[in-house]
Amino acid sequence: MDSTIRNHIPRLIDQIKGLNIDETLALLAVRFPGQVVFSTSFSIEDQVIAHHILSHEVPVTIFTLDTGRLFAETYSVWSATNEKYNTRIRAYYPDRNLLENYLNEKGPNAFYESVDNRKSCCHIRKVEPLKRALKGQAVWITGLRAEHSPERKDHQLLEWDEGNGVIKYNPLLHWDTSTVRTYIEEFNVPYNPLHDKGFVSIGCAPCTRAVRAGEDFRAGRWWWEDSSKKECGLHVSEAPAFREISTGQKTGQH
Ligand code: ADX
Ligand code: SF4
Repeated sequence: MDSTIRNHIPRLIDQIKGLNIDETLALLAVRFPGQVVFSTSFSIEDQVIAHHILSHEVPVTIFTLDTGRLFAETYSVWSATNEKYNTRIRAYYPDRNLLENYLNEKGPNAFYESVDNRKSCCHIRKVEPLKRALKGQAVWITGLRAEHSPERKDHQLLEWDEGNGVIKYNPLLHWDTSTVRTYIEEFNVPYNPLHDKGFVSIGCAPCTRAVRAGEDFRAGRWWWEDSSKKECGLHVSEAPAFREISTGQKTGQH
């Protein structure tokens, strides 16, 4: 892990003040050539970010963590995105040995049986592949939004991720759902049709359901669990250092 990357944060925070997303992406790509990556789950917000990157050909590698349990619709958005932007979004898969051992011991749907089993499954199918995807990288772009959950309100546009040793950039942190939707329509960006059927936050198929009117944004994720445990480990803060001072970057810009 290159801890000197972290030292760039204060200056970057200053530099991106007043910049829009495209300008910020361009600045990061120049500052860290070949070391800026964007992780997409093909959610509606991730599609906004993908459009920013791909329509301007910003040199940022886009990858997805294919857990093997995604919705058929998610693979269709992946494919439509490859086609529209003439690209090949990179995929990371779970380690074969870890997955085989887990499944042979626990069975295919063990995540319903205990939080420990569920966290192990998320670790094998998402967290460990993410670590591989972020190895040697400087900046990790994500589609986190503050509106998703109370915990996510604590994130910053630009912050240090101690666990992964990268600067995290969350360009849509302060966007609301209607701004995301308007952007998708305006630029005719492919999106997951499940978003029109009550699925607001979409993860793996067996662990995601539609939400009912008045339910929380993430109520449909691991719905059988107590709401305090609903993170899969991708975005867990591991140290106070995780939080950086607020930036003054404009939000909601295209
Ligand atoms: S999760 O932690 O509950 O799974 P969520 O689905 O809200 O995360 O997505 C938040 C961000 O995490 C996405 O915008 C994306 O950057 C990243 N992410 C989540 N799932 C994946 C995935 N399967 N592949 C790549 N990135 C992902
Ligand atoms: Fe496994 Fe469900 Fe986590 Fe996907 S969301 S990795 S299926 S426990």
